[in-house]
Amino acid sequence: MAHATRVSRAPLDSAAQYFPARRTLPALRRAAARCRACPLWERGTQTVFGEGPLDAPLMLVGEQPGDAEDRAGRPFVGPAGRLLDRALAEARLSRDEAYVTNAVKHFKWVARGKRRLHTKPSAREVGACLPWLEQELELLRPRVLVLMGATAAQALLGRAFRLTRHRGEFVDSPLDALVTATVHPAAILRAPTDADRRRGLDALVADLRVVAAALRDGA
Ligand code: URA
Ligand code: SF4
Repeated sequence: MAHATRVSRAPLDSAAQYFPARRTLPALRRAAARCRACPLWERGTQTVFGEGPLDAPLMLVGEQPGDAEDRAGRPFVGPAGRLLDRALAEARLSRDEAYVTNAVKHFKWVARGKRRLHTKPSAREVGACLPWLEQELELLRPRVLVLMGATAAQALLGRAFRLTRHRGEFVDSPLDALVTATVHPAAILRAPTDADRRRGLDALVADLRVVAAALRDGA
């Protein structure tokens, strides 16, 4: 038999194979920076891990980093992040009391001229990346979890979950937190007219007010 040559292993499809021995948040963040569990690591500049206080009562989950987040290495720092900050402020919540992260930790994009256009991550990519989010949840143990957009909602609530039907409600889930889903701020930015965007923002604020009330009630 020919002597086995070492070939690079085909990527397995779970981020869990990259977990550090001790699963603290800083160790997980460092480990995620080296993750290659799905093909997106090649396209993005860097892993964008979650950010915020360890004792945050609130956790916000988006879909994936965008162009600005990919460059900065931090979640929700671009246009969608500014809209989110504004919606949080209108709902009397503060970004400082929230841990903010994404379902998928690398930016998936296609070139359109000089721009990098966001494309939706596949179910496989979401599944491969999910262990990072599960670890963030386990370590943070937020009292309220807000899933923004269908990708984040379906990643944690299953692919049968319908955002349009259940947005703004607290939904049943096996997670040890009050869980609700709302629209993604980036979707509001993509709406065709100013009036549509205003309506989208108002609806996001209304959903976040429900969250603010629950937190005040000691959720
Ligand atoms: N959209 C997201 O889902 N997450 C970000 O961090 C930025 C934009
Ligand atoms: Fe790993 Fe997630 Fe990046 Fe894929 S998107 S390489 S699973 S960190």
